[in-house]
Amino acid sequence: MVIFKHEKEIKEYLNKASEKIGFIPTMGALHRGHTSLIHQAKNDGLMTVCSIFVNPTQFNDPEDFKKYPVSLEADIELLLEAECDVLFLPDVSTVYPQGTEATLTYDFGALENILEGAHRPGHFRGVGQVVARLINLVGPDFLYLGQKDFQQCMIIGKLIELMGKENKIKLRVCPTVREADGLAMSSRNRRLSESQRSLSATIYQCLVSIESKAENATFSLAQKECVELLEKKGFRPEYVALADADTLEGLSDYDASRKMVALIAAWIGKIRLIDNMVLHQA
Ligand code: PAF
Repeated sequence: MVIFKHEKEIKEYLNKASEKIGFIPTMGALHRGHTSLIHQAKNDGLMTVCSIFVNPTQFNDPEDFKKYPVSLEADIELLLEAECDVLFLPDVSTVYPQGTEATLTYDFGALENILEGAHRPGHFRGVGQVVARLINLVGPDFLYLGQKDFQQCMIIGKLIELMGKENKIKLRVCPTVREADGLAMSSRNRRLSESQRSLSATIYQCLVSIESKAENATFSLAQKECVELLEKKGFRPEYVALADADTLEGLSDYDASRKMVALIAAWIGKIRLIDNMVLHQA
């Protein structure tokens, strides 16, 4: 694996490469969810480029930014094991040479202000800023993201369109990787205490129960039961929502004529967890 930190070097290297590029943008604290994206890109026959950059502009909460886990040595080990080809490790001045304020932002419309956007104001603006810049630095043919960040995947799909790159970059959304008890893998999980960790699969259990009720109950009943269960276990749910999986338009009840996704965000102590499930339909 070759490691680059600067724009000129990575561009020179990638411009000379003859293979197509599969890009996996990350903020580090890597886990099997991330390496599954690298494996997928390798299976697709691509040169794999992973970036690690903890992007300051997407943290609406400064505490969350300060506490974001950093584990570069272990990350490099994982990337070597996964046989990643290139690691890009830019610093803030490489990503934002003119400062964050002067960086181009994109308008994602309603998508930006619902669910995650409503609870994390400015978050997707920052995601758009950094991913646009990383795309320009890496010049990928394929971009790999995990379904765990369902709304982020839609935002980045839209970003690719807004950048006019929809014919050049294909977005591949890969399945969420879960722990044995169902907890979606996330860099933030490593901040969970033992007791929080033992409760945290409740979110997944809620998603499963929402799916199982699709044919014989109303969504509001399923939602109420989930909120009650989460609260009983000590969570502070922010949303338990049902939406159209193609548009993220909110649904007040199950609608078998649409592809549906259930989405949950909940705090346990000072850690905010999100997860989602696309509902299987009969
Ligand atoms: O999902 C993440 O890790 C980040 O939001 C991303 C896509 C790397 C942008 O900073």
